[in-house]
Order: sequence, then C-alpha cells, then structure tokens
Amino acid sequence: MCGIIGFVGADGTRALDVLLTGLSGLEYRGYDSAGIAVADDEIQVLKRQGEVSSLEEALEEQPLGTEALGIGHTRWSTHGPPSDRNAHPHTDTDSRVAVVHNGIIQNYQSLRTELTEGGVTFESETDTEVVPHLIARELDDGLDHETAFRAAIDRLEGSYAIAAVFKGSDTVYAARHESPLVLGIGDDGHYLASDVPAFIEYTDRVIYLEDGEFARLSADQIEITDEHGESVEYTVTEIEWDAEDAGKSGYDHYMLKEINEQPAAIRECLRGRLNELTGRVELEELEEISFDGPVTFVACGTSYHAARFGVTLLNRWGVDARAMLASEFTGDSVPLTQDSLVIGVTQSGETADTMRALREANREGATTLAVTNVVGSSAARVCDHVMYIRAGPEIGVAATKTFASQQAALTMVAAVLADHRSRELIQSLREVANGIQQVLDDTTARSIAEVYRDARAYFFIGRQLHYPVALEGALKLKEISYKHAEGFAAGELKHGPLALVGPDTPVFALVTGDGKQAEKTIGNVKEVEARGVPVVAITDGLSDIERYADYVLEVPALEEVGSAIVANVQLQLVSYWIANELGRSIDKPRHLAKSVTVE
Ligand code: F6R
Repeated sequence: MCGIIGFVGADGTRALDVLLTGLSGLEYRGYDSAGIAVADDEIQVLKRQGEVSSLEEALEEQPLGTEALGIGHTRWSTHGPPSDRNAHPHTDTDSRVAVVHNGIIQNYQSLRTELTEGGVTFESETDTEVVPHLIARELDDGLDHETAFRAAIDRLEGSYAIAAVFKGSDTVYAARHESPLVLGIGDDGHYLASDVPAFIEYTDRVIYLEDGEFARLSADQIEITDEHGESVEYTVTEIEWDAEDAGKSGYDHYMLKEINEQPAAIRECLRGRLNELTGRVELEELEEISFDGPVTFVACGTSYHAARFGVTLLNRWGVDARAMLASEFTGDSVPLTQDSLVIGVTQSGETADTMRALREANREGATTLAVTNVVGSSAARVCDHVMYIRAGPEIGVAATKTFASQQAALTMVAAVLADHRSRELIQSLREVANGIQQVLDDTTARSIAEVYRDARAYFFIGRQLHYPVALEGALKLKEISYKHAEGFAAGELKHGPLALVGPDTPVFALVTGDGKQAEKTIGNVKEVEARGVPVVAITDGLSDIERYADYVLEVPALEEVGSAIVANVQLQLVSYWIANELGRSIDKPRHLAKSVTVE
C-alpha cells in the first residue's frame, strides 16, 4: 500500500533510472499516481496521476536536471483522490525538503490546523503534506537537516515509512514506524524501499529497519539510529531470489506466471518438512511452541480463507481452533490467556489489520506464530515464532501461489499442533505439485471462461475443505474481473442464496472423492440444476457429478487435502481467463493494492 523508494549513488548519474525501476517494481503496492524528487542545489519534483508509465512520459517532455540522489513514490490513495496535486513527493513552501510516505498519519488534522494557523498554505489534501511543513518549521528554528527531520517525526502519530531529501544535501533520511522499510547496500550506492523488488536488480544485500529506527543514507555510508539517536548495530540479510524471480519471465501477467509457479512453490514449501517413514510433519519452527487453549487464527482476505482451511483440519484432528478476520479481532472479542496460541496468516507480513491483531495478542500474553511469505517482515519480527511458506516473491495483486503455499503450510502446522500422524496425508502433500501441474497443462478453464465471460454473477460452492476454496474462488474472480461472485458452503445455498441463481449465473461446484460430503454437494447441485442454472463441476471423476454438470474441470484424484489445494488452481485459471477475456487490468485491479498497510 503505497511504495516508496530512495537512492543515493556514488557517481551522481543514476538516480532517475534507479527511482523509475524501483517504482515499477513497487507498483503492485499502489498505482493511482506516482512521483519523484531529485536533489542537488535545488529540489526538483515531478508527479503524475496514473501509473508509473504516465510519470515516465512526463519525464520525457520535462527532463529533470540532476541525477544525484532522490526519492520516489507510487500511491494508493487514502487522503484525497488520485491527482497530480495529491501525488507524492510533497515539499514545504520553499522546496527545501521533499518527502514520500507510506502509512497513515492519524493526527494529521490537528497538525494541519496548527501549521495553517502558523501561516502555512497546503497544496494537497494528503496527511503526508504536514511532514515537510513540520520539517521546514524546524529548519526555520535553526535546526540542521537530521535534527529537523527527527523532530518532525517525533510529532507524528500513526504508521509511517518516510523518506526525505533536502536541498543542498547528499543524504537521504528515513524513518519507520509500523510500515515496512528495507535498505539495500549496493557497490555503487545505497537504496531504500518499501519492499525488496524495488532494488533487487541492483543488490541482494538488505537491512530491515525496525520500528522506531532512523536511517541516514549517503553514497558511502548507511547509519541507523534508534529513537534516542544512539547508533544501532544492524544485520545484513542476503535475499535468496533474484530479479528474474521478480520479473514476468515471458508471461503476459504476473498472475499467470505465479499460477504456473505453484508446483515449484509447493515443493519448496514442503522441502525438509515431511517424514514419510513416520508419517509425521516435522517443523523445527514449532518445536518450542507450547499452548493449552484454543488456537485463534487472524488473517484477511485470501489469507483468511487459508486460515479457515487450517481451522477445519485442526478441528477435525481434535484441536479447538477458530479463524477471525483480523479487522474484527479485538482484545475482548475472544478470550485469550497466556496459554493461548494466536496464528497470524499473512503473505506480506505487513497487513495492518493482521499486525494490529498480533500486537494485541502479544499484549494479552498469548503465544504468537506468524505464517508468512516475507522473510524479515513485520509479522515475522513481531511474533514469538515464525514459519515461512517459501512461495517466492508474489507481485500480482491477486494472491495465487501464496494461497496454495498457505494451504500446504497450514496443513503442516495443523498436523504438528494436533500431533496428527498420517502417511496418507504426507503422500497426498507430496502429490500436490504434480497434481497442480496436470491442471496447468489442461486448457479447459480457458474455454469455460470464453463461455461464461458475460454471465451476470458467479457462485462457488463446496463443503468442508472445499468451502474455503469456494470462498477463495469467488474472491479471486471478483477482484480481477470486477464481476459479482460469491462463495458459499454448499449446504447453505438453499437457505437463501438460491433465490439469486438463474440461467445467467453459473455455479461452480467443488466435488471430489465419492464419500458422504461429495454426495451431499451433488444433492445441492441437483437443486441448482433443476432450476435451469448452468453448473461447472470441479471434480476428480470419482462421483457421478458429471451427470448434472454442463462442463467439467478435471483434477487428479488425491486425498482430500491435496484435492482441495489442486482444485483451487482450476478456479484461479477460470478467474484469470475471464478477466483476460474482459480486458481487465489483471495484475493491478482497480481500487486494490497488495500489502494493505492501513486499517
Ligand atoms: C486477494 C488478496 C488479499 C490479501 C489480503 C491479506 O487476492 O491478495 O485478500 O490476501 O489483503 O494480505 P496478506 O496475506 O499479505 O496479509
């Protein structure tokens, strides 16, 4: 949610390139406007509503006169609509300082009033603009750049990752509080960004800034200090993926690339964690965890669906567990004790709602576990324990491979927490990667997308482990196609939603195996079919669902957990191809952004 980038180079010639590359690498975080500021004896700012490409076009017409150092921003609007004026960077009245910001400044209204009363005129509607004006006021009082920056930051309440450049200075300043900020150490300069893809092309050596820390970047030095100004010793982490992993590799969209990366992602997620001989899942990350109470999952969106998948398994294996939408979680919404375990499921590890819930759980004394994809993310650092899902970078706004990896990871977490041992389960997990590959090799989803691209609405139904998959199938379709889609527990359809179905609302039914649950879902499908509603069955062919379906999306026959992971891939493909048919902005759907760092 909003991406920031900063760079200071040794030879003073590369800032523009680095900033623009960085902004393109961060666009998944927000894409309604973009801007840059470069600094030497003057600060020059250029910003445009629209995607980074609009900024690039503007730069061609209006080149900036220096390449020394600079900052950039790609925006997901919170305060004020997308416009050139509201785009970052923001400056003070005399353009002595330029600032980019990711997060929300909660007390901006009172600061704005205070500054306005002091004679400041604001150019934008943003919360961010208070920051350069606060800094300028400190400069007027005679403070040097760094002290003025720190003094201004000190006045802020809320969440922020902020970077600033000053007229006549060769240093970039930054601060972080509850919004991500990572520094990059290059051979020829230093970088900062909201996320590693912004500068992975230039360096894989990074430092994750902690809450309350400040950074000062010059061409030859990085200095990190705490809130009292004391130097902080930092750890340099080496990133294990490279620019190619973060690129499109010839696919039209990141989403399609990431759907196709799922076999590899699943293998990586399972690597070294399964023991065929004993039938046990072995997670050293969980060895020290002790709990004696219900397990509470907190998560949002797709990650919440994965959490529900984990809950279903835990309950089935005898452990009391529940999943809560992180935004609904409060200290008193569920009773927590020191014996409770709270699991935050979050791909990015930065989602504000989930982070707040995890911090609250920590305050209540519960044990916390982060199940996340991003090494060094806020969730990983805030929680007592962390398990990485190892899906690799996911750039498409719609979560795909991370959902599959979360399903696999949470199956393993549930097995360990419940001490559930089963060779069949291990075998099923082992077969998932090949099962997904079979689905990827099948082109039926694309044909079905052509048939149903203009449907009025789409419904997804499933039972037990297929229920969260139905929810996820609907979420994926609505976010990238902008069409109405809903997921239901198959048995719930007749309790109300059935009133919505008709000949122009296809129902996608997840039915695998030939047991009782499959039989019941087939019963629900018959109720739909009897009303002239088109049915698409996602099935392994073990039941007779095909008799009642207009089309079939095949999945290989696996044990239930494996089936539910693989079946979801067919739904991802349907969503992708419908959105593609409709010419939607698949990787950057309207109004959305990856990594939602506001509550
Ligand atoms: C949907 C999607 C979102 C995220 C949600 C939580 O495709 O990506 O629903 O799942 O914003 O994000 P994380 O997992 O980063 O906490």
